[in-house]
Amino acid sequence: MKIFIDTAIIKEIEWAEERGLIDGVTTNPTLLTMADRKLGEVVHDVLNIVKDRPVSIELVSQTTDELVEEAKTIVKLAKNVVVKVPMTDEGMMAVQQLEERGIRTNVTLVFSPAQALLAARAGATFVSIFVGRLDDIGKNGMQVVRDTVKLLKNYEFKSMVLAASIRSVQHVEEAALAGADIATIPLKVLIQMYRHELTDKGVKKFLLDWEKVPK
Ligand code: E4P
Repeated sequence: MKIFIDTAIIKEIEWAEERGLIDGVTTNPTLLTMADRKLGEVVHDVLNIVKDRPVSIELVSQTTDELVEEAKTIVKLAKNVVVKVPMTDEGMMAVQQLEERGIRTNVTLVFSPAQALLAARAGATFVSIFVGRLDDIGKNGMQVVRDTVKLLKNYEFKSMVLAASIRSVQHVEEAALAGADIATIPLKVLIQMYRHELTDKGVKKFLLDWEKVPK
């Protein structure tokens, strides 16, 4: 499973890049507020680090024509820009036009297999299922990922299933087991993935025992 980092904070992207963990980056307007810098500067810096892998930037227009125009402007920034389009009627018409022009799209705010099917039919490159937000309202977010993986496979759609709104290591593991193509992961969860209490305990014990080895 590919790993995207879900952030617009440069230090976090650098941390993950140093460890070879980044296959792509996803941002959204909320994440951009956390970067606390001007949009142009953030995007410039992200694209500078992640030169050859997809960087998703969200469109904020409402109508199909406006979405297409906004996308055409944004993709001029760099070759690896992917436009995030909301899962709406207008959005799916925009996705169709954009993909026809060779502009890659990431359909965002997908919460059901039916929405995923429409996004795939429109030709989306990525379909982002928001797992954590579904869990928040008492639904089983990962089941939507499982069902979508199966559904897109049944009909050989080319869209990639992206598990988004990831909140825990368990989410990452389950997304991989479900066969998601990608998980976009916040830094906090990436760090947690390295950890296990038995690893910490084991390292400590081996170091203590090493002291006792006659040298
Ligand atoms: C995906 O591309 C989104 O940016 C993200 O995963 C949303 O996650 P949240 O529900 O934690 O805001």
